[in-house]
Amino acid sequence: MNEINRRDFLKIGGAAAASLHIAPDAPDAPDAPDAPAAPAAPAIPFVRIGMVGVGLQGGSHLENFLKIPGCRITAVCDTREERTSWAQKMVAAAGHPPPTAYARGPRDFERLCETEDLDLVFTATPWEWHVPVMLAAMKAGKHAATEVPAAMTLDDCWALVESAEKHRRHAVMMENCNYDRPEMMVLNIVQKGLFGDVLHAEGGYLHDLREIKFEKKDEGLWRRAWSRKLDGNPYPTHGLGPIANCLDINRGDRFDYLVSMSGPSRGLHDWARDHFPEGAPERSERFTLGDVNTSLIKTARGKTIVVQHCTNLPRPYSRVHMVQGTKGIFQGYPNRLYIEGRGEPHRWIDAATVRPEFDHPLWRAIEEQSKGAGHGGMDYIEDYRLIQCLREGRPTDMNVYDAAALSAVVELSMQSATRRSRGVEFPDFTRGKWRTTPKLQIDARLMTA
Ligand SMILES: NC(=O)c1ccc[n+]([C@@H]2O[C@H](COP(=O)([O-])OP(=O)(O)OC[C@H]3O[C@@H](n4cnc5c(N)ncnc54)[C@H](O)[C@@H]3O)[C@@H](O)[C@H]2O)c1
Repeated sequence: MNEINRRDFLKIGGAAAASLHIAPDAPDAPDAPDAPAAPAAPAIPFVRIGMVGVGLQGGSHLENFLKIPGCRITAVCDTREERTSWAQKMVAAAGHPPPTAYARGPRDFERLCETEDLDLVFTATPWEWHVPVMLAAMKAGKHAATEVPAAMTLDDCWALVESAEKHRRHAVMMENCNYDRPEMMVLNIVQKGLFGDVLHAEGGYLHDLREIKFEKKDEGLWRRAWSRKLDGNPYPTHGLGPIANCLDINRGDRFDYLVSMSGPSRGLHDWARDHFPEGAPERSERFTLGDVNTSLIKTARGKTIVVQHCTNLPRPYSRVHMVQGTKGIFQGYPNRLYIEGRGEPHRWIDAATVRPEFDHPLWRAIEEQSKGAGHGGMDYIEDYRLIQCLREGRPTDMNVYDAAALSAVVELSMQSATRRSRGVEFPDFTRGKWRTTPKLQIDARLMTA
């Protein structure tokens, strides 16, 4: 960064930048001498898991872990006792000893981390609890995994990196969309070189959540509140994770800087007006989250990325999923592709017709086992890979630097969108190790029981 940019960076951040670790962790900081390039840890033949937050998504992970070989849920924590009881019943019904329950309030996960003999603490709590749970887990010597996004602030991204390095524990962000069948097929095509050099990619989370945000249960109890707290992209990783893998982010390239723009905030207000009676408190809520947020990211190698967020307007679901290279392109929703020299010039090929050729081998190997699991089976594959990497002592597919870089978009998009789309720089959470970290490889070997 030249001096002017560095000053701008500090100024742009304002109050938010004041909370950044400017030194020694600033974007140009020298390599941390003992920071692992691709963190691995000793193999754990049988993984004991503590689950924190067993609501909708945590419950779904719990059910996956009951089917995955080589792991056992031995402790569960939730602020709602009915959920820890449900979890205990589920584990017992699978023929295992019921896990110890922790339900004494919002910080009871600390007691779980301190008292239980666990290898992994897995959290699927509301966003604001991900980092406190992961830090407590790593401090107590446990690996940590979290639902997305891992963190909502740059400070918290750094806290995860520093804790993982200090305690030499994994801090994994569980981005299930990295494991969806089309996304894995595209990664396979990219890694075979059939799209040439990937130069541009687009992703998003475009999902009408209005009804869910106003429910009086589950996500309705916490997710809508974030739409009152910030403007930017609070949930970037579903669209960004898979395309980051195609662009070798943190494994040969890295996110360099971002500009972001948000439009008006209308959707939730209109929904409340149309669905709640006159005088209902929901009708007077004021929202800050722009209904459509678009961010542009430039990578250190000069590639470009578009990432969008839209959860407050009527629309069919999409994660966009576009990956474009010097020899071809994939475009999601609906899934189609073009590879130069194949098919007719200028015409899309339906992606379904090339699946027999390019389906990721892991999907083929694990399809039967994953049937019926959350989100079309991808959640099972994601959980399976986590346990497999831990059991085999290999680096996890997503490491703490990925968790930080992808989650950093939350605060950076907010900084940019609220300051007339000024450019904001990504910290290099890897401290230079993005140049030497090996490329992501997901093979199709299955675990033995
Ligand atoms: N990857 C995906 O496709 C996907 C889908 C849905 C949700 N999610 C993520 O999963 C997480 C949870 O979402 P959800 O839909 O399950 O929400 P939810 O509200 O159904 O579940 C959250 C659970 O956490 C519990 N909880 C809240 N605070 C807690 C605390 N301090 N300690 C222990 N337990 C606590 C709640 O009682 C609840 O049971 C979020 O991060 C969300 O973004 C991811």
